[in-house]
Amino acid sequence: MKITTATLRQKKEKGEKITMLTAYGYPVARILDEAEIDVILVGDSVGMVVLGYETTIPVTLEDMLHHTKAVRRGVKHAMLVSDMPFTTYETDKNKAIENAGRLMKEGGAEGVKVEGGGEIADIIRTLVKANIPVMGHLGLTPQAIHRLGGYKVQGRTDESRQKIIADAKILEDAGAFAIVLECVPEPLAAEVTTEVSVPTIGIGAGRKCDGQVLVTNDMLGMNAPGFVAPKFVKKYADLTPEIKKAVEKFRDEVKQGEYPDEKHTYE
Ligand code: KIV
Repeated sequence: MKITTATLRQKKEKGEKITMLTAYGYPVARILDEAEIDVILVGDSVGMVVLGYETTIPVTLEDMLHHTKAVRRGVKHAMLVSDMPFTTYETDKNKAIENAGRLMKEGGAEGVKVEGGGEIADIIRTLVKANIPVMGHLGLTPQAIHRLGGYKVQGRTDESRQKIIADAKILEDAGAFAIVLECVPEPLAAEVTTEVSVPTIGIGAGRKCDGQVLVTNDMLGMNAPGFVAPKFVKKYADLTPEIKKAVEKFRDEVKQGEYPDEKHTYE
């Protein structure tokens, strides 16, 4: 069954959990789609996970287009959402429509994700009016990392808690079809989830959200050496040591003349 914004809303109404994972290329996109993950996000986490940057800040629209096109080719059933990168949407409505439009027309995305609350409500309204489905993102918003001062749990003070709740209502009112809640305490995520009619999708936001998202490379343990996973990441597999073992075996077999053997050679 093809997943749409309507399916996601129905899932919230029925109390069925929504699943979302990131993909940056064709093979993983196909695996996630065949595993019936509801939403596949081409996250701007591509900057850190695939491109080797320290933050998501350097990611460009061209980067997002390149990866969205590859993921598109692997997705049939899931809803495909693409992140709008830093400075491609925040202040200029025309630029926001043009850039989101490119992610949909050229990349094949079925919706875009933007970070922020009340300050970008008018932009979200404009995108939705132009028939561009928008997913919001509150709490720890990685594009604001330098203002936030690090990857820390958000919503711990009363002021920040109230702002996240108010922002969630603003995003709902502006027409967002879902809201990602990143790194917030469980009771706050629970309150937002009951206060808004649109689905909330948590990452480090506890058990009460309408759905859960993780960065696929984190849950597969497929990160660059030295990566320290945040507390909320559950490793469902640990692929980095497996990859390293296989690569070292290849290296040794080539050096010792064991590969290629007869079985792997054309006559
Ligand atoms: O870029 C990303 O991968 C994200 C998810 C963590 C929600 O925004």
